[in-house]
Amino acid sequence: MTTTVITGIGELVTNDPARREQGGLLGLLPDAAVVVERSRIAWVGPGAEAPDADVRVDAGGRAVIPGFVDSHSHLVFAGDRSAEFEARMTGEPYTAGGIRTTVARTRAATDEQLTSHVARLVAEMRGQGTTTVEIKSGYGLSVHDEARSLAVARQFTDETTFLGAHVVPDGTTPEDYVALVTGPMLAAAAPHARWIDVFCEDGAFDVDEARAILLAGTDSGLRGRLHANQLTYGGGVQLACELGLAAVDHCTFLSGDDVSALESSGTIATLLPGVEFSTRQPYPDARGLIDAGVRVALASDCNPGSCFTSSMALCIALAVREMRMSPAEALHAATAMGAAALDRDDVGVLAPGNAADLVLLDAPSYVHLAYRPGVPLVAGVWQAGRPVV
Ligand code: NIG
Ligand code: FE
Repeated sequence: MTTTVITGIGELVTNDPARREQGGLLGLLPDAAVVVERSRIAWVGPGAEAPDADVRVDAGGRAVIPGFVDSHSHLVFAGDRSAEFEARMTGEPYTAGGIRTTVARTRAATDEQLTSHVARLVAEMRGQGTTTVEIKSGYGLSVHDEARSLAVARQFTDETTFLGAHVVPDGTTPEDYVALVTGPMLAAAAPHARWIDVFCEDGAFDVDEARAILLAGTDSGLRGRLHANQLTYGGGVQLACELGLAAVDHCTFLSGDDVSALESSGTIATLLPGVEFSTRQPYPDARGLIDAGVRVALASDCNPGSCFTSSMALCIALAVREMRMSPAEALHAATAMGAAALDRDDVGVLAPGNAADLVLLDAPSYVHLAYRPGVPLVAGVWQAGRPVV
């Protein structure tokens, strides 16, 4: 059996809670080594105590971090909306109305076209250090197109999410569409999905519709997550907390009661600062949420409309600069908390037994992710123990 030891790690981010006393939130270990056996981490510790292995890799004093866990993306789509982005940057507001444009283009694409497009985006993510990605449907909005979107996504990740309730498509009523989503569409989608999601917002689905859809999904064995409070105040965040969902995403417009509900429920608030960057909306109050005891994750929301970035490093830089998260909080939110938002305890933390998903940075410290915004710092990626970059 082949083992690999990565030595000469100047700064290792483990995220291991058992190392917090000495290593802080990130469980930092200086002058460290990691041993990888097959797809898992076999050993983590001081470089001077590293056991021997078949293959040795020298990190040359650079930093190693857990692979990013991007818990929110919409990669299954066709077409381009750069003109919509350009119009926004000259004063048009973001309304989510462009979703219908992408639906038309996605329905017209072949399975092969969708698959190769997702492959390209997943490779783009991997090259930037993302080793776990959640992928949603939501640009099909018919039984056939939602099921095939999820079948495509399933080729790239176990973390697939049925988002038939993205918007009500043209040519149907909200009542009829909710009946379709909770009936035949759910039946066709569920075999390909782990999660169910709803866009709970003015102009999409209200709280009662979202509750009915989420409960139907739960009855079919899916777990719930929610898009809420992105564009307006509303009851979505409280619904997510009431239902004990793993995560509620966006959380841009929150009342004091929403913050209290998040804190007491433990539902993770996933913040997507690339969206605010790309729509010129105000950023969510990450500092206020963390100070109130809310668990916060960061994700890209990579999609053709509100935010077409695949870069978790950009999200970290924005979180630090624009949302007053510390560099350590932001990296933790993009790794360990992303894993928690997907209810996963085998990724996001570098500890024996966990997935060997690691990123070697061309930098002496993880702080460079925010300190050097826009600079490609990923020098190597191991995914499930395999060097992939
Ligand atoms: O998460 N908010 C809803 N859905 C996506 C955007 C979809 C689009 O504009 O195409 C989001 O921001
Ligand atoms: Fe989204």
